[in-house]
Amino acid sequence: MDIQEVLQWTDEQVFVKTGKHIDSLQSSILKEVWEGEKYHKIAKKCNRSEDHIKQVSRKLWKMLSDILGEHIKQSNVRSILESKALSNIYNNNGAQIVGYINSHINICGEKRQDAEDTETRSPSPPESPQNQARSPIIDLTDAPELPYFYDRTSELSTLKQWILQAHTRLITIYGLSGIGKSAIALKLIEQIQTEFDYIIWLSLTNTPALSTLQTELKQFFGRSQQLPLPTIIDYFRSSRCLVILDDVQNIFSSSQLAGQYLAGYEDYGKFFKQIATSSHQSCLILLSWEKPKEIANLEAENLSTRSLHLKGLGQQAAEIFQQKGLVDEEKWSDLIALYQGHPSWLNIIAATILELFDGSVSLFLSEVNDLFLGDLEPILESHLERLSGSEKKALYWLATQNETVDISRKATDSELSQPEFWQAIQSLARRGLVEKVLVGGRSLFFLNPVFKAYIQCR
Ligand SMILES: Nc1ncnc2c1ncn2[C@@H]1O[C@H](COP(=O)(O)OP(=O)(O)OP(=O)(O)O)[C@@H](O)[C@H]1O
Ligand SMILES: [Mg+2]
Repeated sequence: MDIQEVLQWTDEQVFVKTGKHIDSLQSSILKEVWEGEKYHKIAKKCNRSEDHIKQVSRKLWKMLSDILGEHIKQSNVRSILESKALSNIYNNNGAQIVGYINSHINICGEKRQDAEDTETRSPSPPESPQNQARSPIIDLTDAPELPYFYDRTSELSTLKQWILQAHTRLITIYGLSGIGKSAIALKLIEQIQTEFDYIIWLSLTNTPALSTLQTELKQFFGRSQQLPLPTIIDYFRSSRCLVILDDVQNIFSSSQLAGQYLAGYEDYGKFFKQIATSSHQSCLILLSWEKPKEIANLEAENLSTRSLHLKGLGQQAAEIFQQKGLVDEEKWSDLIALYQGHPSWLNIIAATILELFDGSVSLFLSEVNDLFLGDLEPILESHLERLSGSEKKALYWLATQNETVDISRKATDSELSQPEFWQAIQSLARRGLVEKVLVGGRSLFFLNPVFKAYIQCR
């Protein structure tokens, strides 16, 4: 995106919220800061005093922060406006941005009918060269909003390497609810969309039968093709398609080991396997609380399948507190460590700190003896509700351990046999509830400390 496009988009946001357009001095400041210019140089160019430019800039950053819900300053205005403009374009069906969509991105889906009606879409033909930048047809109707995005640099580069260099055909991103699976997938789309002819996001929240899902996919791919093709794999072969299936845990059964399909949904497993093992030029990304059961086997024998266990954010999670207006910055890293850098948990705890301690992290940490869970409890419970009997036994046993566990030594006080215990640990790890560390060449396991605290206080 160039500065003119971002300026136009920003002006539209300001106009919608304030009824006023960005004035010429504000616009000049934005353009100059965009180019990395310092205030004293901008003052010279605009023929104003440096103090005046600083004052106007401060007000401008404050106004944009209020409108866009981000802490905007001179050093981050470019990256925030750029990513906001792109992500809002993906997620927004508002009339203000249709002009932008029409000239840049082809978007399908009922909610974006107006964009479609005003433009004849022209996806790259299937035979277009691999490395040529494409203008994809995108349908993100089912995707959630992405208001903020921090960090994840290394995970994003791993995913890009798998997709663009290794041509991985099936990727699973799994991890706890709220850890940021949808967020990272949206960011990924933003960064690699020009490599694809088609991008579609579908949610399995309503547990569609596989045939319903396939029909929806065919309708999407078929919109711009002269002749409909018989199967999804045919579309995957003839064009470069990126399909994101979100909320995949909905087709897995509760009270069983992780990643077992609900009765009547086993054909999804065959479909995933077919996508991993057939030759084509497309990629399917699954977002799930649990790793599907055949993925581990496919990964072992097939280079075209990969899975990423998404864990918490690093220290950049502090941006969450910055944005929420918490104080006592020197204590923020303690808070991030306590709640595992989990973005959703940190958002919830930050809201509690604002409500009960006027934003003081020091007060919160000094007043609370045990790990405070509060509004996290129902979220943690929703994960525990899905466990099988043997997983619950292993989990409760792990919650009594003070140290990381070497599973080659039998848990003498556990009711499970050794094979049952191993299977349960493996399954808990496939849900991201149990993690592994390598110490002196040995794998040691431990229960997520927030779940441990929850189980102990129950
Ligand atoms: N990298 C990030 N930077 C800032 N906020 C984030 C980040 N990742 C996630 N969040 C925030 O955390 C919340 C949960 O993120 P997200 O919806 O992506 O989680 P999820 O793993 O898809 O959860 P679920 O499995 O329940 O769908 C959102 O409010 C999102 O904005
Ligand atoms: Mg999600």
